Amino acid sequence: MTYIGTPTSRIDGHAKVTGAAKYAGEHNADGLVYAAVVTSTIAKGRVARIDVSEALRVEGVLDILTHENRPPMARSDKAYKDDVAPEQGEPLRPLYDDTILFDRQPIALVLAEDWEIARFAASLVRVEYKAEPFATDLFAERDNAVKIKKPEKPRGRADKAIAAAPVRHQAEYFIPNEHHNPMELYASTAVWESDGKLTVYDKTQGVQNVQKYLCSVFNMKSDDVRVLSPYMGGGFGSGLRPQYQALLAVLGAKALQRSVRLVLTRHQMYGLAYRPASIERLALGAQPGGTLDAITHEAIAVTSRYEDFSRNDAGWSGLLYKSEHARYEHRLARLDLPTPSDMRAPGAATGVHGLECAMDELAVALKMDPLELRLRCYSDRDQHADIPYTSKKLRECYRQGAEAFGWDKRNPRPRSMREGTELVGWGMASGVWEALQMPTAARIVLTANGHAEVACSFSDIGTGTYTIAAQVAADALGLPLDTITVKLGDSTLPQAPVEGGSWGAASVAHAIAKTAGEVRAELLRAAKTMPNSPLANAKPEGVALIDGRLVDAKDRGRGVSIADLMRHGRLDRIVRESTNSFKNDNAHARNTHSAVFAEVKVDEELGVIRVTRVVSAIAAGRILNTKTGRSQILGGVVWGIGMALHEETLIDHAFGRIMNADLAGYHVPVHADVHDIDVIFVEEPDDLINPMGIKGIGEIGIVGVAAAIANAVYHATGKRVRDLPITLDKVT
Ligand code: MOS
Repeated sequence: MTYIGTPTSRIDGHAKVTGAAKYAGEHNADGLVYAAVVTSTIAKGRVARIDVSEALRVEGVLDILTHENRPPMARSDKAYKDDVAPEQGEPLRPLYDDTILFDRQPIALVLAEDWEIARFAASLVRVEYKAEPFATDLFAERDNAVKIKKPEKPRGRADKAIAAAPVRHQAEYFIPNEHHNPMELYASTAVWESDGKLTVYDKTQGVQNVQKYLCSVFNMKSDDVRVLSPYMGGGFGSGLRPQYQALLAVLGAKALQRSVRLVLTRHQMYGLAYRPASIERLALGAQPGGTLDAITHEAIAVTSRYEDFSRNDAGWSGLLYKSEHARYEHRLARLDLPTPSDMRAPGAATGVHGLECAMDELAVALKMDPLELRLRCYSDRDQHADIPYTSKKLRECYRQGAEAFGWDKRNPRPRSMREGTELVGWGMASGVWEALQMPTAARIVLTANGHAEVACSFSDIGTGTYTIAAQVAADALGLPLDTITVKLGDSTLPQAPVEGGSWGAASVAHAIAKTAGEVRAELLRAAKTMPNSPLANAKPEGVALIDGRLVDAKDRGRGVSIADLMRHGRLDRIVRESTNSFKNDNAHARNTHSAVFAEVKVDEELGVIRVTRVVSAIAAGRILNTKTGRSQILGGVVWGIGMALHEETLIDHAFGRIMNADLAGYHVPVHADVHDIDVIFVEEPDDLINPMGIKGIGEIGIVGVAAAIANAVYHATGKRVRDLPITLDKVT
C-alpha cells in the first residue's frame, strides 16, 4: 500500500480554497429567483390571518407562498418520510396548513428577483396568530416524560445491587440543547430545467435520501429530480435529514416554473437541527477495591410534539465497564420545539458524558486514581451480548495517552496544583462509539491512458471522503494518486446511504476495493489472451495491480502494463460497478474507543477556565489518512471544549423562543480558546471487522472530551459542576 495510511492532503483542498468548489447556495441558473422565509413568532397555535399585500407591493417581488396558495404537496403521513426519520411521528411539512408547532417555524416563502428584496418583503408580511399554551422547559416537563423502548436489555438486579454496594455514587448530569452551527448556512438551489425536471443543489449529507423525499412529497418521477451535494461547509448530522429549505426551494420553483435559491439566515437555522438537551441520571455501586457491582443509567431527553427522536444515551454505560448488574432507561419530554437531530456522536456525546463524570466522582469516593478505576473496571467483552470485540485497544489508549500527558505526575488532591493566580486541574475520561458499515456501491471507469474515475453518491461532508476514496482506489488499481478522479454527492451516482454514523470510511473503501477487484479480474481476462502472456495461468486472487502493471502477486517481475493489455484487448475503458458486502457476524462487537486527558487552568478569582492541553488517544482500527484523520479528532476535541465551556441554546420559556440565535449569543470556541491538542492513533489491527480493518473516526473524537474537561475543572477547583456548560459563574 502506497497511499493508505499516509498523511495525504485533501485532493479537494485546492478547489475549496480557491473557490472553485461550489456550495449549494452558490449555483447560478438563468432567471434565478431568490427566496426568503418568514418564520413564526409564537411557539404553538395557528395562523389566524396572514396578510401579504404590503409585501407583494414591493417592486421585484414575484409571489409569496403560504399554506393558503402553495402548489400541491403530499401530507406528511402520505409520503416517504426519509431514511433517518424517527419511527414515531410525522415530519414537519412546512406551509402545509395553518398549524404552528414551534417558534421560528416557516410559515411563508417570499419569491423575488433579488435576495435583498425578498428579505425586505419578508419583513412586511403581517401575521395574526391564535396562540395556544406551550411548554419548552425540560425541567418543568420532566415528570411528564414518556418512557420509550428500553435501549438495552438489563442485566441482573441493578437497583438492589446498588443499594447493597459498600460504595455508591448517584447524580444527575445535564447537557443543554446545543445547536448546529456549521459555517455554511442551510441552502438549496432548485434549478428548473426546460423540460420541467429539477436539479437541486442541496446542503445535505444524503443526496439519494433527499431525492427520494422530494419525489415522494411532490409526486415526481425518479428521473425528474436530481440532487447534488458535492461539497458541504460542515454537516456533523445537521444535514442527515432533508431540511425544510430544500422542500421550500422546490415549492417555489414549482410555483413560478423558474429556478429558486433559498439560503437560510443564521437566525433561522435555530429553527432546525440541534442536539436535544438531556438529563443523564447515573447510579454506580462499587466495591472498595474499585470494581463495579452495578450501573443504572436513566436519560431524559428533549423531543418535539410531532416526532419521537431518541438515540442511545444510556446503553454505553453497561457496555464500557465490567459490571454484573445494569439497567437503562430512556424517557422523552415532548416539547413545543422542532424535532432534535443527530449531532456528532448523538447519544454517546451526552450519555457517555454523564457516565464519565460519574466515574470520576466514584473515583473520588473510592480515593482512587480515576484512570486506575477505569482499568479495574475494564471489560474485554461486550456485556450486552456477552461477546468479544473484533478489536479493542482501549487499554493501550489509556497507556499511551497517560504517558504523553504525564498523568503520573498528577497530585490527586483538588486545588493542589497551581501556577501563579491559576489553579491547574487534570482530568480524564473514556470514549466509545460504534464501528458501523453500510451497503454502498461504487463505480470505477479505468481508461487506457491510465486514469481512473471513482464514483459514488455518498457525500463528503468535509471529513475527507474524496481523499480516502482516491487513496484506496490508487492503491487498489496500482496507479498514482493524481490519476484518480473522485465524483461524490450526486443522486444519479451509485447507491449509498446518508453520510453519517462514522460508517463512511469503511463503507466507501470496501465498495471501491471490491469494484477494483472486478476491474483487475477483467484486466486479467484480457492479459490471458495476449500471446506468450506471463499471466496465462494466473488466478484472479493471485494477481495485483502495482505501478500501472498487472503482476503475479508472488513474482512481481511477471506481468504486463495496463496500457499494453488494454491496447491489446482493444479496450479504451473498463467500467465496473459493484456493492460492498460485509460479514456482519453477531459473534463480535464492533466499536471504537478513546482515552481523553485534559488540563485546565482556572483563574482563582475570576473563574475564567482555559483548556490548555488535551491528549486524545484513539483506537479505531486502520487509519486511512493520518492527516485528515487527525483533523477529525482535532475537530471533535474543539467541539468538546465548546460543549464543556461554551455551548448552550437559551430559551425564554415565557415565549418558547430561543434568545441567543446567532453566533454572538451562542458561544463556540474560537482560536483563542484552543491550545495544545495532541492526537494519538493507537495501533489497532483488526481483520475481523472487515478486510481492510477500517472502523471510522468521524464521531469518536468528541466523546468523553467534555467529561475530561469537567473532571479537570473539579480537580482544579474542588467544585463539581454537573450542568453544562461550565461557565465562570458556576465555579466562583
Ligand atoms: Mo454524524 S451525527 O452521523 O454526521
